[in-house]
Amino acid sequence: MSLASNNPATIVPFETHWDPADYGRTARFVSDLGEPVLRLLAPRVGERILDLGCGDGALTQRLAATGACVVGIDPSAEFIAAAKALGLDVRLMAGEDLPFVSEYDAVFSNAAIHWIRGQDAMLAGVHRSLKPGGRFVGEFGGAGNVAQVRAAALAALARRGIDGAALDPWYFPSPEDYRARLEHHGFRVVEISLFERPTTLPGELSDWLGTFAQSFLLPLSEAERVAAKAEIAAEVAPTLRAPDGVWSVDYVRLRFCAVRPK
Ligand code: BEZ
Repeated sequence: MSLASNNPATIVPFETHWDPADYGRTARFVSDLGEPVLRLLAPRVGERILDLGCGDGALTQRLAATGACVVGIDPSAEFIAAAKALGLDVRLMAGEDLPFVSEYDAVFSNAAIHWIRGQDAMLAGVHRSLKPGGRFVGEFGGAGNVAQVRAAALAALARRGIDGAALDPWYFPSPEDYRARLEHHGFRVVEISLFERPTTLPGELSDWLGTFAQSFLLPLSEAERVAAKAEIAAEVAPTLRAPDGVWSVDYVRLRFCAVRPK
């Protein structure tokens, strides 16, 4: 099991700034593609559900519309403001800092866990937040996720003498590693699977990079960022861009359901 994301020596000061308007334009597919994991959650009317990494609240709103009592948390103040504007009960909080004790029937998470640096602190908090018998249902990037784009970003930085590995913000474990991690924290894993989900972008890969790969581009000047994004796009275009110009990124998902035993 890789514990890299919990070793303080490996934690570096990278950051991603989330702009809800930009996110709505370039990344609406993230919540749109969350339906299957919502179905796996199968929320029941009146259940108390915590949405871990609720983002701008688009999927949280769909979850709340099922009749569940939903609380969302996210570390981005901009996302929390956008989610509050939808009338949702959301709180500014990092996934590592959950203060809840046996409060929730379920914890739900879509496309957020791969951003969390302190996986063990988060999993301990999720376990503590659940009522005995409660479930943790989620989906995020698994081993091999966006591998071609990641490799091209690392290569663009290496050409500039920069070690991109130190800027890499993503945690994409294998199902074996994540099962072990869940079990280490006392969960019983009901199901866990890894599958490819090529994802069509609404626009250019450079826009996707500007939203999701900011951390890699941080050390570069604005002009260099433009150049690096163009290089990355050129490198992966032969495999990820169709002749009609539509991009399909090499997403791989890890989907799971785990239970806090009674
Ligand atoms: C995702 O799998 O949702 C994802 C991960 C990192 C960057 C972009 C998307």
